[in-house]
Amino acid sequence: MKTLPWSTDHPPLMLAPMQGLTNDALRGYFIETVAPDLVFTEFVRVQQQSRKRVAKAELAEIGAHDSQVPLVVQLIGHNAEALADAAVRVQEVGCQHLNLNLGCPYGRMTTGATGGELLRDPGKLVELLTSLRQAISGSFSVKCRSGYDDPQQIFQLLPIYEECRLDYLILHPRTVEQKYAGRADHELTAEVVQRTALPVIANGDINDAETGQRLLAETGVAGLMLGRGALADPLLFRRVRGELPTQVDEVQRRQELSRYLSVLLPLYLERFCGERQALMKLKDLLNFIPDESLKREFGKLKRANSAARFQLLLGQLTG
Ligand SMILES: Cc1cc2nc3c(=O)[nH]c(=O)nc-3n(C[C@H](O)[C@H](O)[C@H](O)COP(=O)(O)O)c2cc1C
Repeated sequence: MKTLPWSTDHPPLMLAPMQGLTNDALRGYFIETVAPDLVFTEFVRVQQQSRKRVAKAELAEIGAHDSQVPLVVQLIGHNAEALADAAVRVQEVGCQHLNLNLGCPYGRMTTGATGGELLRDPGKLVELLTSLRQAISGSFSVKCRSGYDDPQQIFQLLPIYEECRLDYLILHPRTVEQKYAGRADHELTAEVVQRTALPVIANGDINDAETGQRLLAETGVAGLMLGRGALADPLLFRRVRGELPTQVDEVQRRQELSRYLSVLLPLYLERFCGERQALMKLKDLLNFIPDESLKREFGKLKRANSAARFQLLLGQLTG
C-alpha cells in the first residue's frame, strides 16, 4: 500500500470537495483556523477534447497550494487515457494525491457518463481505475456513493477497489439516485469497514460533534470527511476533536459567524474578479448556514450590494 496522505497517529478529519464553494480562499480559511488533516479541490473536469486535459487556471491554483496540509485533487471524467493524462499534469505541478469522483449525481458530460453514473458500468470503472493507478505515484482514492440505485452494490464494488490498489475509500452512504434525500446510512458504513481491508473515510450528514465522535468510536472508520456541516460551522473540526464545546449558545454562535464571514470577505475580494462576484460567492455560502434565528439578518446580508454594507451588517450580527 502507498503512503496515506495523513499521519496515522489520529483519525484524519477532511474538508469535503464542494463545487462552487470550496475554492482555494475558503480552503485557506479552513487551513488557518481549524487545520483539517486534508483538503480537496472542487471536482476538476477532465477535458477529453483538449490535449491540455486540465484548464490552465485550475492547474495554476493546484500548483499554488503551499501548506503543510496536503491538497487532494479530485478528477471527474470518463475516458481512461484523458484521466491518466490529467493525473500526470496535476503531479507535474506538485500535487501527489488524487481522487476520482464516483458520486456526483449531476456529473454526466455530453460525451459520456461520469461521477456517480460510472457505478452503473463496473467494467468501465475497472478500466478507469487501472489507468489512473498506473499514472499516479502518490495516493489514489475514490469518493463514492453506496451504489447507483441499490446501497448493497458497494459490496460488489469493494473487490474492484481493492484489486485496483486504491489507498483508501471515501464513502457517502446514499445511492446516486437518492441524490441528497433521506439520510446517510452509516450502519452501512460500519459494515463496509468490516468487509474491506481499505481504510474507509465516512462522509455524509456529520453535522455535529456527537455524530462525528460516535462514528469514530463505533464504526471502525479510519477518519471523517465533513461537508455541509463544516460550511455551517467551521469549528466543527475542533468540536469533533474535543478541543471546543460540542454545543454553543446563541451569543457565541453569532460572534463565531461574524468572525468567519468577516475574515472571508477580504479573502474573497482578493480571490474573485470584482466586488459583485465576491459577494455572490459569499451569499452562496450563506445558503449553507441554516440557523433559523439568523434568518432576518441573513436576508439583509443577501441583499447587500457592496462590500462595505456587507461588512457593516456583519458587525451588527453580534450587536
Ligand atoms: C454544493 C455541493 C457541491 C458538491 N460538490 C462536490 C464535488 O465537487 N465533489 C464531490 O465529490 N462531492 C461534492 N459534493 C458532495 C459532498 O462532498 C458530500 O459528499 C455531501 O455533501 C455529503 O456530505 P455532507 O453531508 O457532510 O455535506 C457536493 C455537495 C454540495 C452540497
